[in-house]
Amino acid sequence: MNKWILTGITAIIAISVPATAQVKKTAPVKNAAQQKPTAVSVTASIARGKILYKEICATCHQADGTGVPRMNPPLIKTKYVLGDKTKLIKVLLLGLNEDVEIEGEYYSNPMPAQAALKDEEIADVLTFVRNNFGNKAAAITPAQVKMVRATIK
Ligand code: HEC
Repeated sequence: MNKWILTGITAIIAISVPATAQVKKTAPVKNAAQQKPTAVSVTASIARGKILYKEICATCHQADGTGVPRMNPPLIKTKYVLGDKTKLIKVLLLGLNEDVEIEGEYYSNPMPAQAALKDEEIADVLTFVRNNFGNKAAAITPAQVKMVRATIK
């Protein structure tokens, strides 16, 4: 086939395909860290977090979150648990080694980092803690953990 005819055919095909078929329109995607988790996903996250809490945290903080006096602090309505999400995520990613004062008791044993946990696992266990033991606070998402992890690498 003559190359001019070929070019012509290509041009006709290009013109006859409607523009809308070429440009696939997608809804604007929100920044993952800003996406609000749904009620259903939070319930599932808490359920997974409960299992992780029993496996990992309960040895020190106890099954009921009351901790061990002067050794392992309670996780009940503390400023760490209910406060700034970034700081709380860092407690798990970096561990904690500072003088923690909770209701007049001082804790200075170091907490070992739990950085081997996946982003989703950290989100789950923290969302469980923030919504158990009488605590009530917004869920933590894997995207938020991922963002904090990226700042400390
Ligand atoms: C080996 C024992 C140990 C394990 C396991 C452990 N922690 Fe801790 N945790 C501590 C100690 C000790 C501190 C206090 C650290 C300090 O004084 O600097 C602490 C502090 C904390 C704090 C901040 C203080 C407070 O009470 O609010 C949070 C939150 C916390 N841990 C959550 C967790 C979660 C969630 C897990 C499980 C993923 C976990 N910890 C596993 C021993 C532990």
